[in-house]
Amino acid sequence: MKQNIYDNEIFYNSYIKLRVDSTGLNDVLEIPAFRTLLPDDLTHKKILDLGCGFGESSNWYVSQGAERVIGIDISEKMISRAKQLYQHDKIEYRCLPIEDISFHKDQFDLVLSSLAFHYIADFKNVLQEIYHCLKNNGLLIFSQEHPIVTAKKASNGWAKGENGEKLYWKLDNYNDEGIRKQKWFIDGVIKYHRTTSSIINTLIETGFNIVRVLEPIATEEAELLNEVLKEERRRPPFLIVKAQKV
Ligand SMILES: C[S@@+](CC[C@H](N)C(=O)[O-])C[C@H]1O[C@@H](n2cnc3c(N)ncnc32)[C@H](O)[C@@H]1O
Repeated sequence: MKQNIYDNEIFYNSYIKLRVDSTGLNDVLEIPAFRTLLPDDLTHKKILDLGCGFGESSNWYVSQGAERVIGIDISEKMISRAKQLYQHDKIEYRCLPIEDISFHKDQFDLVLSSLAFHYIADFKNVLQEIYHCLKNNGLLIFSQEHPIVTAKKASNGWAKGENGEKLYWKLDNYNDEGIRKQKWFIDGVIKYHRTTSSIINTLIETGFNIVRVLEPIATEEAELLNEVLKEERRRPPFLIVKAQKV
């Protein structure tokens, strides 16, 4: 099932506020780690950005020399914000579910995706499409919520003490893969849980070589500015994978 939750008015407004305030983990944790996996030089690269959101990363890839970026997102609101904020003649934004991509063989040097794959039910099928449209030796780099986060069936994974302090992360139902309905800004947000081994093995079965896997923590600068971020060292919020078509 494809859910377009980012077009829900309340969800969208809350998400944009989170990103504008930079109070989310994206800016201090996910993005810096993700970018360490990119090739040093993006010059002449053709890039597919899956779940491009409001286009911040697509635009950054062009600023780093990418020749062309196609940004795909299911949300009309996100695509329209991308066109408003980051219109560029080297970027094409398309409002399309990731599940429906169908590109020519050997078209892209890089397929990149930030925090969108946990919304995809059929991971294997999407990987096959990505493999098809990547050039030989091309790279797939993606981040997603970490499987210890997607595993949770209750809304909050932290067990809390009497004063609201975080005691420990409640990991449960880890091997029960599949749909999760969670509360994030609103009730009923659908995500899909896959174990780490399942994610890695599906990549290998599709034909990818695993190049690197990250479970990042916040940058030291960010932790100095925001003490709360140190708590993120206690459990990995994100999984980031770099894989190569061989
Ligand atoms: C957490 S946001 C990340 C946006 C962007 N990659 C970034 O890092 O700023 C997840 C994005 O994935 C998109 N998304 C979720 N499910 C999708 C699907 N099935 N197909 C395409 N996009 C999807 C959402 O609309 C949203 O823009």
